[in-house]
Formats: sequence, structure tokens, C-alpha cells
Amino acid sequence: MKINENYSKLEQSYLFSTIAKKVNEFAQNNPDAKIIRLGIGDVTLPLCNAVIQALHNAVDEMGQQATFRGYGPEQGYDFLRESVKNYYKSHGVDLELDEIFISDGAKSDLGNILDLFDKENVVLVPDPVYPVYVDTNIMAGRKVLFANANKENGFLPMPDKAVKADIIYICSPNNPTGAAYNKEQLSEWVKYAKEQNAIILYDAAYECFISDNSLPRSIFEIEGANDCAIEFCSLSKTAGFTGTRCGYTIVPKSLGKLNQMWLRRQTTKFNGVPYIVQRAAAAVFTEEGQKEIRENINYYKENAKIISDTLEKCNIWHVGGKHSPYIWLKCPNNMTSWEFFDELLNKLQIVGTPGSGFGQNGEGFFRLTSFGSKENTIEAMKRFEKAYMK
Ligand code: MLT
Repeated sequence: MKINENYSKLEQSYLFSTIAKKVNEFAQNNPDAKIIRLGIGDVTLPLCNAVIQALHNAVDEMGQQATFRGYGPEQGYDFLRESVKNYYKSHGVDLELDEIFISDGAKSDLGNILDLFDKENVVLVPDPVYPVYVDTNIMAGRKVLFANANKENGFLPMPDKAVKADIIYICSPNNPTGAAYNKEQLSEWVKYAKEQNAIILYDAAYECFISDNSLPRSIFEIEGANDCAIEFCSLSKTAGFTGTRCGYTIVPKSLGKLNQMWLRRQTTKFNGVPYIVQRAAAAVFTEEGQKEIRENINYYKENAKIISDTLEKCNIWHVGGKHSPYIWLKCPNNMTSWEFFDELLNKLQIVGTPGSGFGQNGEGFFRLTSFGSKENTIEAMKRFEKAYMK
């Protein structure tokens, strides 16, 4: 037996596990500290009423002989795929049902999709970005190239024709910077991908935070994207499903074999999302569900504003928070990302995410999330202002 040596090329642990370990150690040594967690993008508001009602009903159905369900279709029940189809239709994208695959979230599918691609493919990933894209490709032994995202390009790198890539990752609105591509910029990426005969893996997990209707919510709003892109989305941030687990992946049939290959992969390695959860997910797309989740998203957006207003007062450079739940800031006093992480935890008992955990270009930057409670966000920003107001 030979183990997969590629694992030895990874950081010792996944970014958010490293942070959790550090915070737990601090909490054990400082039992009285009131720690405020603005690190991992985990939601805090409960599931909305429409979702809870759907869950109750589905649980009751599972307790009755006539309505009990065993194995479901691996690619998701039609009732949920219809809801997703209508949601896309509402922003001008026509999908067929068998292009929609229901999953337990974008993170899993972003990793699993790599089953479809040869090991020799070259991967292009923006830096900084969600660490899952890089780690999953390192595990598979693929070569990873980076597209520089920085202050100068507004953390929105554009294609460079001199760079040859087969698999291109785009996350918009971006985790961690909150930057969002407009239609013209995405069109350039689509053009580049087609020229290179490459595939774009488009992570749209934060689309519901887009505040400006002229910005695309889906890559399929861009002409030609059907021939070169797969899209991943999740209800985690949209509807508070981080613990409930449900997402969807769109694999257009115009991509040729890939749609059938993904179906083959899913039917072999996945048994589908629980019926109960799919009923809950379908409730998100009802009129009542959409109204309720919008209220929750607005709550988080207000938190984002509280954070940016404080940073403004402290004269700390920052972006994000407008089309995303994340605020991306320059660490004060030229600290490195991890130095600032330690200072915030030890002195102010605030947890954030070091920018360098998202890539080399993230060094010297830091991410705060607006997913905390309003009370905690206000309290954290009071502590912050006291420490960093010049
Ligand atoms: C994050 O904080 O970047 C996200 O919550 C991680 C995730 O969605 O897996």
C-alpha cells in the first residue's frame, strides 16, 4: 500500500480548524473571557419560519406509511430542482432540470467535481481565495497557478493570455475580499476560458448578498458561459443552512460529456440529500421563504455596515461588506495577518480570519464576518475602536 503523498504538501490543518484550535486553547486558559467570534463565516440567526414549517411537515410525512421516503434520486427531488430552475429564471437564466444537481453544499461539490478532471490539468486560482480550491487540487497532485488579486486591481484579477490553464476558479462575490465581478469582467473570463479550452468552476455561494442588480448572480448570465462553466451554490449563507446542509451545482448539458459524467459520479458515490432537508430547501424559494431570508440577509448587512463604519473611524483601509458578508481590511500598524489575529484574540477577545490563510497575497490583511449577532458585532467594534482609534 502506498499512501497519497500529496497530503504531505498541504498545510498541517485546514485554515478554519487551525483557528478553532487556537481559539479553544485560549478559551480554556481564559474561562472568563467573553470571546466574540467573527472568524469562520458561520451564520447565527435561526432558520426562518417557512423552512421550519416545511421541516415539521416533512418529518410528519416520514412518520406515515403512505408518505414515507427511502432512497431518493441522487441528483435531488424534482420539486427542489424545479424551485432552483425558477430561481435562475428570475434572473434570466434558463436551465433544464437535468442540469441541476442537489448536494449537501458547495464545499463538497467543489472538491468532488475534481473526479471528472485529469490529474495533468493545470489549475488557475485567484490569490487570495477560499482555501478549498487549492487544497483539493494539491490532494490530487495538480499544478496550481495563481492569479494575483491585490489592492491595485480591486482584488478582481483579470485573465492573462500568457497564462495557460485548464481549470479556472472564480468566486464572486469573493470569499474573502467581498469583491464582485461585473458582467464585462466575467465576459472576459468566459472568452479566455473558451480560447484556452478550459473550464470555469464558478462559486456563487454569496450571490444573495449582491446589492447592485446590475452585477451578475450567476455566470450563466454571461453569453457563452454554458459552454465553459460549472456553477456551485449553497443555501448555507443564503438561508442559514451551514448546519442543515444543502446546495446545488449546475452542469450544463452543452458541456458535453461532463453532465453525464457528473450524474455517473453522483449516482455512484452519493446517496442524495435527505428528503426532509430538500423540503426545507424548497421552502427557501417560496414567496414567504424569500421574504424571510431577505430579512436575515439585511440583518447581516447591517452588521457589515457597523464593522465598516468602525474601520472608517479608525482610518483602517478596508473593502467588502457591500456584496458579501465579509469585510477585508489591512492589518493596523503593519502587523502580519497572524500577528493581528493573536493581538485581537489576546487583547480584545475578538476572533477573525488571518488574510494569509487565503493565500500569499492575503498577508498583512484580515477578514471579519458580519454573521455574528448584532449585539456581539457592536460590542466587538466598541473594543476595536477603543484599541485602534488614533
Ligand atoms: C468561510 O468562513 O470562509 C466559510 O464559512 C467556509 C465555508 O463556507 O466552508
